[in-house]
Amino acid sequence: MNTEFVEIDINNIDDELMTRAGDVIKSGGLVAFPTETVYGLGGDALNPSSSKKIYEAKGRPSDNPLIVHIADMESLESIVSDIPDMARKLADALWPGPLTMIFNKSDKVPYETTGGLDTVAVRMPDNKIALEFIRKAGGYVAAPSANKSGRPSTTKASHVMEDMSGRIDMIIDGGSSTIGLESTIVDLTGSVPMILRPGYISMKRLSKLVGEVEFDPAIVNVDAKSAPKAPGMKYKHYAPKGELAIIKGDAEKVISYIQAQSKKALSEGERVGIIATDETYLNYQATVVQNIGSKDDEETIARRLYAVLRDFDADDITRIYSEDFDTPNMGQAIMNRLIKAAGHTIIQL
Ligand code: TXA
Ligand code: MG
Repeated sequence: MNTEFVEIDINNIDDELMTRAGDVIKSGGLVAFPTETVYGLGGDALNPSSSKKIYEAKGRPSDNPLIVHIADMESLESIVSDIPDMARKLADALWPGPLTMIFNKSDKVPYETTGGLDTVAVRMPDNKIALEFIRKAGGYVAAPSANKSGRPSTTKASHVMEDMSGRIDMIIDGGSSTIGLESTIVDLTGSVPMILRPGYISMKRLSKLVGEVEFDPAIVNVDAKSAPKAPGMKYKHYAPKGELAIIKGDAEKVISYIQAQSKKALSEGERVGIIATDETYLNYQATVVQNIGSKDDEETIARRLYAVLRDFDADDITRIYSEDFDTPNMGQAIMNRLIKAAGHTIIQL
């Protein structure tokens, strides 16, 4: 398949190109598009064969449901069976934005889109290109992150090209994602809202709006026996090709441990990558030392994480050491992604 690549200026959106992109979706094709979190791999959410194509293009197990992206509240009414008051409050305050809500679905949404579940995940992204594209596409765009299954998510159109070139009809380049980590997912089908995936919107922020909110126990305690409620959270994910270990503990000790490991691995012929911060990167020697930003600037760390992981692949890095990022708001989301990328290899000093 020939993948068409189009650039769209977010401040001067080309109407003709957007109409064409929307038509591709309406006729059952797939288009990757920018959002504020990560790039999405879009298909018509109400067309079962489009959802099947999405799973194929990603190489994703089809029991892993897709998020339906909408551009206005009217669209929500027709794809869910009811809208709890708390959901209205959250939508009023946080949509468009990096929040996905789980509802009971209406008959309009095919099981191919929800991975066989009676619930549906819905999000209104905060990106002008995404919103215009969704409108032109008929209002309901199913979109997982536009990476191949298991790979780091895509925060730039060039990442999408790496993974999806030749597999989908079109890629819309709208610049880098401003947040860089996937949306917070909150399930509103029970009496207390439950966070199924941490993200930019913190639990504190949600609680201020709707009171008590809980975390899915399976994502807080990685050793929990219960399966995570978001099916996608159970898979190894976001992984670079090199073996990644996260090193935790006292800052001085972390630096000397990583430096010693790096030296040893280099002498054994490994190509070593290190994820460090403004405060620490000058302490290290490795094939590639990535300074991800200041340890006090969690927004930058979040925005750069996936690009850093992908850059290691471009440099054929075989062994990666990362410091841990225990930051106040997004720390949980950052560490959730990093721990999965490391396949749970954490070394506590
Ligand atoms: O920021 C985002 O959410 C991005 C952009 C493109 O919007 N999308 C994204 O989609 O991260 P994806 O498919 O990579 O992750 C969706 C997650 C998966 O873990 C999936 O299992 C979960 O949402 N999910 C979807 N529908 C669900 C449902 N009905 N119940 C529970 N979990 C659901
Ligand atoms: Mg994903």
